[in-house]
Amino acid sequence: MYRVTMRNETSLPEFRDHVRVLIGARIKPAAVTFSTTESADLFGEAPPADRKVPAFTVPGAYVELAQTVLCHRDPARFALLYELLWRLLHDDRKLMSIHSDPLLHKLRQMEKSVRRDLHKMTAFLRFRKVEDETGERYIAWFEPQHLILGAAAAFFIKRFANMRWSILTPDGTLNWDTNELGYGPAVPKAQAPQDDAMEDWWKSYYASTFNPARVNPEMMRGEMPKRYWKNLPEASLIPGMIAAARTRTGAMLDTAPTAPRQNKAGDIVMREFFASDAPQENLVAGTLAALRVEAGSCRRCPLYSQATQTVFGEGPERAPVVFVGEQPGDQEDLGGKPFIGPAGQMFDRALEEAGVDRAMVYVTNAVKHFKFEPRGKRRIHQKPNASEVEHCHWWLERELALIQPKLVVALGATAMKALIGKDVRITEMRGRLLTIRDGLTIVPTVHPSYLLRLPDAAAKAAEYAHFVEDLTAVARYLPEIAKAA
Ligand code: URA
Repeated sequence: MYRVTMRNETSLPEFRDHVRVLIGARIKPAAVTFSTTESADLFGEAPPADRKVPAFTVPGAYVELAQTVLCHRDPARFALLYELLWRLLHDDRKLMSIHSDPLLHKLRQMEKSVRRDLHKMTAFLRFRKVEDETGERYIAWFEPQHLILGAAAAFFIKRFANMRWSILTPDGTLNWDTNELGYGPAVPKAQAPQDDAMEDWWKSYYASTFNPARVNPEMMRGEMPKRYWKNLPEASLIPGMIAAARTRTGAMLDTAPTAPRQNKAGDIVMREFFASDAPQENLVAGTLAALRVEAGSCRRCPLYSQATQTVFGEGPERAPVVFVGEQPGDQEDLGGKPFIGPAGQMFDRALEEAGVDRAMVYVTNAVKHFKFEPRGKRRIHQKPNASEVEHCHWWLERELALIQPKLVVALGATAMKALIGKDVRITEMRGRLLTIRDGLTIVPTVHPSYLLRLPDAAAKAAEYAHFVEDLTAVARYLPEIAKAA
């Protein structure tokens, strides 16, 4: 029996080096055991590292899978990944696309569990502000299900680049000083701050966005599993709010509509908060409804100043598909909903013909404010520039992180730029499935406005048919979005 010890158990380069040696020595999966330094196995010998390793390549999908699965806590993950690699190299190069294969299926389930944990960490981690001799610092305690600290670092650095923060977990700590990331040892929970002023703000905010008429305890527990509750300030409110929901719903139904009350406690807290100079990055929304409220007072770029309102995305919280357009137009700006003007009508028609139920999908835009140039009484659409797309990307990223769609349909080049950060020509990308970071899969297609602008009727009809074909392919891929017959 051979033995391999992983020193950094989530490291893909280290895993790759080990398996290269194993493959080079033609050591079958059944003849090797993997362990970590903590569980180091004393039995078995190290594989012979002096063999010439034959050059071999592995599919990108395997590398992506391995990267995520290495963060799973199951000690069997190394052996399972090695077995898959062995079979890919010796039995079937196409194995990565055989989803019914039990081994691949198991690894995909593990991958999903890690991704879900990462999503929960970005949604449920709460920073508390502390002051020390060097100034302000934000500290959070989180208990991840898997070994995701390193994998989550990039998200928090990007999101809170200008704050000094630490994330403490039972597996180790991350420390960001606005410049450099440091890893530290695990610390006991007692070292995390337990209370602060932001906690009260967060509780008021949560209570103010809670709608008793929509409460579904089962779904709430599914979305925010109980294991996360103990570290969430707002969780202490949940049992009471659920208990009160029935009474409040009854009262809501019995009460005739009135003008909105101005001075609800939650409103005051929120208005004060938004009126302050606090950077938007300090806001942490755990639901789409909360994110929509935050986006309502977005000041990330100057576009808010001339638009009527933020036009946020619309659709189910767990939509399997997200459609991303460019930016709201004149009618969307006035109506506050995406794709309700002429381009929206064309979009609706094409969805209908493709058999897609719009109510089953989430529709949003790369940029959430209408950009225009006033000309007489008209407001002429202007394309958002790179900086506006970049600033607004923050919202799109949060929407996608919360929804976790199976597919994102990019309607036009601006949507693609927002999603992949690059200028592309849709005509060259169309028809391809692109997998980007976090396993997000994108389908590029044209924007409905492009079809509206085509002057030639025959070209317009042909392009429209092609657009419907693209949407039909999406519906075929995801039958759950199909319109009921
Ligand atoms: N065009 C878009 O990209 N989005 C809308 O919401 C409307 C028109």
